[in-house]
Amino acid sequence: MEDHETTPPRGAIGVARPRAEGPGKVSGRVRYAADEPLENLAFGHLVTAPVTRGRITRLDAAAVRDMPGVLAVIDHTNAPRLNPEAGSFFGPDGTLQLLQEADVPFAGRPVALVVAETWEQARRAASALPVEYAIEPHDIAFTAEHPAARPALDLFGPEAALGDPDAGLAASAVVVDERYRTPEEHCSAMEPHSATAWWDGNDLHASDSNQGPWIVAAALSALFGLDQRRVHIRAEHVGGGFGSKGLCGPQLILAVMGATLTGRPVQVTLTRAQVFLATAMRPPTDQRVMIGADADGRFQVIRHDAAFAVSPLVEYIEGCTEPTKALYAAPAIHTTLTAVPVDTVPPYSMRAPGAAPGSFALECAVDEVAERLGMDPVELRSRNEPSAGPVSGLPFSSRELTACLREGARRFGWAERDHRPRLRREGPLLTGTGVAATSFGVGAFPSSASITAETDGTFTVSIGASDIGTGARTALGAVAADTLGVEIDRIRLRIADSDLGMAWGAGGSRGTTSWAWAITEAAGLLRREKIDGRRPVTVTADTSRLLGDLMGLERHAYSAVFAEVTVDPATGEIRVRRLLGMFAIGRVVNPLLARSQVVGGMIGGLSMALHEEGVRDPHTGRQVNADFAGYHIAAHADVPDIEADFVPDHEPGIPLGIKGAGEIGNVGTAAAIANAVWHATGVRHRTLPLRLDRVL
Ligand code: MOS
Repeated sequence: MEDHETTPPRGAIGVARPRAEGPGKVSGRVRYAADEPLENLAFGHLVTAPVTRGRITRLDAAAVRDMPGVLAVIDHTNAPRLNPEAGSFFGPDGTLQLLQEADVPFAGRPVALVVAETWEQARRAASALPVEYAIEPHDIAFTAEHPAARPALDLFGPEAALGDPDAGLAASAVVVDERYRTPEEHCSAMEPHSATAWWDGNDLHASDSNQGPWIVAAALSALFGLDQRRVHIRAEHVGGGFGSKGLCGPQLILAVMGATLTGRPVQVTLTRAQVFLATAMRPPTDQRVMIGADADGRFQVIRHDAAFAVSPLVEYIEGCTEPTKALYAAPAIHTTLTAVPVDTVPPYSMRAPGAAPGSFALECAVDEVAERLGMDPVELRSRNEPSAGPVSGLPFSSRELTACLREGARRFGWAERDHRPRLRREGPLLTGTGVAATSFGVGAFPSSASITAETDGTFTVSIGASDIGTGARTALGAVAADTLGVEIDRIRLRIADSDLGMAWGAGGSRGTTSWAWAITEAAGLLRREKIDGRRPVTVTADTSRLLGDLMGLERHAYSAVFAEVTVDPATGEIRVRRLLGMFAIGRVVNPLLARSQVVGGMIGGLSMALHEEGVRDPHTGRQVNADFAGYHIAAHADVPDIEADFVPDHEPGIPLGIKGAGEIGNVGTAAAIANAVWHATGVRHRTLPLRLDRVL
C-alpha cells in the first residue's frame, strides 16, 4: 500500500463532514425503495383486517378482478406457501406468515394484496374488495396483573437477584415505591415501508426499506424456501426506521408474492395508516420501581418489575430493566421482566428499546428519592456511582457518567437551582428544571467486509451496512480512510446490498461499531498483501469469531439530560424550553452527524414525554389514531433550543474506540422532562405522555 502514498493522510475520523448523500437527497436524485424505474412495473395495495380477532368467512376476489387495471388478487387461498419456522433470534415469527390462513390475529393484519397496473387502480380495487369476518372475542387490555402474564424470555441474560431486599428496606430512611406507565408507541418513520420486487430467472431481486439488507435477505430466503445466494436485497436509501424496519416487513413479503404470481415487478408501499396498523410498535409498559435509601442518599435496595405487551404470534423482549442493572450501586438489586400476551400488532424494537421506557420509570423514581431526602438529584446520583457492574460485579470498560452529569450541570447552570418544587413563576407560567442519567448497552454484531485495492490507487470498500438516515455511509467512509491510511477521496464505499456479504443491521446502537470493526479487520488483512498496482487485490474479513473478546466487561454508553419546562396551570400545556444532553459514546467518528443523531434522539424523547400515544378502541381493538393527525409527534414548533455535546471517551477492546450513538440520545429525555414538570408544579406524573388533561 505504501506504493500509493503521496502525502500523509490527514485523518478522517473526528472530522465534521456533512453526509455524503445529502445533496442527492435534497435534490431528489437518490432512489428509495419505491423509486425503482422498472419497465412493466405493477403496483400492489394491501387490504388489512378491521377486526381484532376473527376469521375471514368470505373474500370475493371475483368481485374486483375485472375492475380497471387489476392483475391479481392474492389472499390466503392462492398465496405462495411460506415456511412456518422462519423468524428471527426471538424465534419463529408468525408476523411473517402473511396470507397463509383465514384467521385474523390483530386489527391491521394484511388479508389480501391487490395488484394492478397503477397504484390508484390497486388502491381502488383493494377498497372495493368484499371481505366478511366472523368476529371472535379479543383481549387488548394490557396490565401487569393480566392473568396471562408470564416471565419474559431471558435471551438477553438473567434478571437481577442481588442481595436481600428486606434487609435493604430495613436499612432505608426513605422508600419510593411507585407505578409508572408508558403507552404503545409507533416508530413512524417518514418514509412509509416500501418494496419493489422482481424475478430474474431464478434470482429474486428487491429494493426494500429496511435496516439491514443481509438479515432481511436471510429471513426472506427462509420464509420462501429460497437459496439465499439467489436472493438480492438492496436498501440504498432509507427514510428512517426507528426499529420498525429491522425485520423482513410486510411490504417485502407481499411484493415478492405479487411478483411471483404476476410474473412482473411489483411495488408495494404501505399507506400511513397501514404503517401504524401493520408494522411493529413499542409495547405499552407497566412498571413498578421501588428504591430505598439511607439518610445520606445511599441506595439500600432497588426493585424494578417491568411488564410489557407481547403478541401470541412471536416472542419479544422489551428490556426495561437494562439501565437498572447498570446505573447505580446498591446491596440489593432485584429486577423482573414480565410478558403479557394481547391481541395487538406484534411489538418490536423502537427507539432505544427497553431503555427508553425503563429509564423513564427508574429515573423518575430516583428523582422522587431526591425529593424525599431534600437532596440535589445530581448529587444523589453521584453518591450511588458504582465502582463495578452493580449486579454483575464485572469491571466497566469505560464509564464517563459522572463526567456527563458534571459537565451537563455546569453548562445548564444547575448550581443555581432551588430544589424545592412550585416556587418559580413567569407571569402565569410555572417553570421548573429536571435531570436524568442514562445508559445503553454497547457491543457489536457479526459482520463481514471486503476491500479491493484497485490498480489506480483507490480502494473499493464493500459492506452490507445500511444507512437509514443516520449518516452511517459518511461515517464508514471516514473509518475506511483512516484504517487504510489514505485520504478519503480514494475510498469508494459500497453498502446496503445483501450481495456484499453477511452484515447485521442498523440497530441496537451497534451498526457503526459492528461495521467499522469488519472494515478495520479487512484493512488489516490488506496490509499483509503485496500490492503492486498491476492487478486489483481483494481481501474479505469476518468478525464473527472475534466478538467473544467483548465478554468480561460492562460496556455501556452514558448520558445526562437536563430539561427546563414551563407549565400553564390554566390549560395544562407543557412547553419544553431548553434541553441539554452530555453524552459518552466512545470515540466520535463524525461530530456533526453524531450530534444530529443524539439531537434527533432527544427530540424522540421529548415526543415520548409529551405527545406519543397509540390509542385503541376497547370494543374493536383497533388503533383509532393511526395517522399523524391523531398520533402526535413533536413538530418543529415543539422543539426548543437543544444543546448536545460529547465528553472525551474511548471504548477499550473495540476497534477505534467506538461505542455507538444510535440509541443513547433517546434515553433519558422523557424522565428529565417529567422531573422538570414535577419541579414546576409539585405534582408527580407517572404515566406517559404528560397530556394536558393529566397535568391539570
Ligand atoms: Mo433500533 S430501535 O434497535 O432499530
